[in-house]
Amino acid sequence: MLDYVSDKVQDEERQGEAFAPFVADPNQYRKRFYIESYGCQMNFADSEIVASILNQEGFGATPHAEEADLVFINTCSIREKAEQTVRKRLTEFKELKQQKKGMLIGVLGCMAERLKSKFLEEEKLVDIVVGPDAYRSLPGLVEEAEGGQKAVNVLLSRDETYADISPVRLNSNGVSAFVSIMRGCNNMCSFCVVPFTRGRERSRDAGSIVEECKDLFEKGYKEVTLLGQNVDSYYYTPQPPKGGFSATPITFAALLELVAKISPGLRVRFSTSHPKDITDEVLYTMAKYENICNHIHLPVQSGSNRVLQLMNRTYTREWYMAKVDRIRQIIPDCGISSDIIAGFCTEEEQDHRDTLRIMEYSRYDFSYMFFYSERPGTLAQKRYSDDIPAEVKKRRLLEIVEIQNRLSLESNKKDIGKTFNVLVEGDSKKNVAEWKGRNSQNKVIVFPKKDFKLKKGDYIQVGVNDCTQATLLGKIL
Ligand code: SAH
Ligand code: SF4
Ligand code: F3S
Repeated sequence: MLDYVSDKVQDEERQGEAFAPFVADPNQYRKRFYIESYGCQMNFADSEIVASILNQEGFGATPHAEEADLVFINTCSIREKAEQTVRKRLTEFKELKQQKKGMLIGVLGCMAERLKSKFLEEEKLVDIVVGPDAYRSLPGLVEEAEGGQKAVNVLLSRDETYADISPVRLNSNGVSAFVSIMRGCNNMCSFCVVPFTRGRERSRDAGSIVEECKDLFEKGYKEVTLLGQNVDSYYYTPQPPKGGFSATPITFAALLELVAKISPGLRVRFSTSHPKDITDEVLYTMAKYENICNHIHLPVQSGSNRVLQLMNRTYTREWYMAKVDRIRQIIPDCGISSDIIAGFCTEEEQDHRDTLRIMEYSRYDFSYMFFYSERPGTLAQKRYSDDIPAEVKKRRLLEIVEIQNRLSLESNKKDIGKTFNVLVEGDSKKNVAEWKGRNSQNKVIVFPKKDFKLKKGDYIQVGVNDCTQATLLGKIL
């Protein structure tokens, strides 16, 4: 059954597709690894850390699992469907392993953390299990596994941020990159498995974030997306110089400003904002810098106060709507998107209608929409019963999707006649005679290439003359 719906096209989905890295000349390495990632952008960013750690050990990436000595799958536990997808993929890898002697299979990420060594019992042919905070121990674990031992490290850490590790960009378009600014989550949304799989929240050294972004810009990247489960609670206190006074702590707003100042030619995005934590200071910083993109992903989850309370989201619908008002007041042309869960425990028709109403109020440009999937170990699983029948969840989800489809179309229609500064990301998927790019609001725009000498990573003014529900259509001005 349908578990996840997005009104965006496949390659923009945060949940789902696996990817294979491309690294030139793998022959220069002593062993080859293949890595495939699922889940959120943070997980994809983690795979780039893993690739970097393995590279240093003399392992090179290959885009073909068949030629790999080590096959890694970086997993997601957010919904049951995500775990099923991974298990299915594992059975395929296990067949491969039976054909290729000596091949090792490693499970990384959130499922590794959730299932720990149980994984090795359940999935007999898995050799290595590593949680999100233990990637530095991978080379040692590979050695252990090569020696025939089952290798597991799922220790969570209070301070690991991989700040000093320079990620190897996998499958990148060379224009935009993701930069982790924090790890873990201290919120306890009752439906969510992330606090258990990713551990306590910690913020990465601001200096190392700015350095990484600078480096990306120097290498030709034009856009960075700062990643965290709750970016607004970013808080980093720099080490005071020896004998000096303690330095001023850096908030998310201050970090945004530091990254924005690298160059007006570097676009800055971020995700995810929590409605309880996003501050005016962040909004004013966004308004102040042209290169901080006018888009906020502000997951609402539900529009019902009763359900929000059961979800432990710690805001009310009134608080949420006030945040939307504030955003539109300070940044009038800001794009807003959301995550929505249909059919959470005890949800009644009235609650569901409150969700539909808050969608209309917020006029989301797009949303990621899910039906509730009970996760073992979460507060909701312990406290409440998953009592909404699957057909009801599905029907409510479809109603949510229908509204979002209409809101997306309405929002896009409003852009007809407007001109946007677009960052060119590459060929349009459907037609190589067209470019694909994004405006500040994170909307995809496609437009004919014509004779203009444009290339990936260029900025260009595009006038919008038509749209679909998912895409703006335009022409170069
Ligand atoms: N940190 C982010 C979200 C991370 S998970 C935030 O707080 O917004 C991404 C989305 O998955 C969530 O926003 C939620 O909508 C959805 N999700 C999380 N747990 C889920 C569950 N058990 N069932 C269905 N959807 C879930
Ligand atoms: Fe999960 Fe809530 Fe943390 Fe987001 S803020 S990762 S939904 S616990
Ligand atoms: Fe999934 Fe873990 Fe991200 S559960 S959504 S990969 S933090």
